[in-house]
Amino acid sequence: MKATSSLELALMLILLMSALGVTHSGRGTYVVAAASNGASIYAEKCESCHKADGRGGGPFPALAGNSAVTAKSPAQIIAIVVHGKGLMPAYRPGLSDADIAAVLTYVRSSWGNRAPSVSETQVAAVH
Ligand code: HEC
Repeated sequence: MKATSSLELALMLILLMSALGVTHSGRGTYVVAAASNGASIYAEKCESCHKADGRGGGPFPALAGNSAVTAKSPAQIIAIVVHGKGLMPAYRPGLSDADIAAVLTYVRSSWGNRAPSVSETQVAAVH
């Protein structure tokens, strides 16, 4: 088997970074796109109740096709994730404001949902 060339290694690195959603910020640092981070937070923290397809089930509401989720202002759903509600746990301080913004951005843009992203500033404004 021949040794892998440095060109092949560079190509593999580029493919890996694009698969992970890593982009260059322009200041010499690399950032992972909020949406891919949001997807992994969703899988870890939310999927057990709301399901991988966002359809929930039983006492757990669907997030797919839910007008509260895709409302123009995300303030109400930010408050639910921050403070919890009924059977849903509170995620502050368990998640950072940036993580809550990323997971809600994912939820608002998945399974056919098409609502604008949520910023860390919008999450920080909810007390
Ligand atoms: C233990 C189960 C559970 C987990 C884990 C959970 N939720 Fe929930 N979630 C619920 C329940 C139950 C409700 C309904 C609360 C109510 O209205 O009484 C809810 C409501 C919501 C709503 C509001 C839906 C609406 O129609 O108003 C959003 C948005 C939401 N969850 C997002 C998330 C996100 C994002 C995560 C992960 C960070 C998460 N949930 C984790 C159980 C859960």
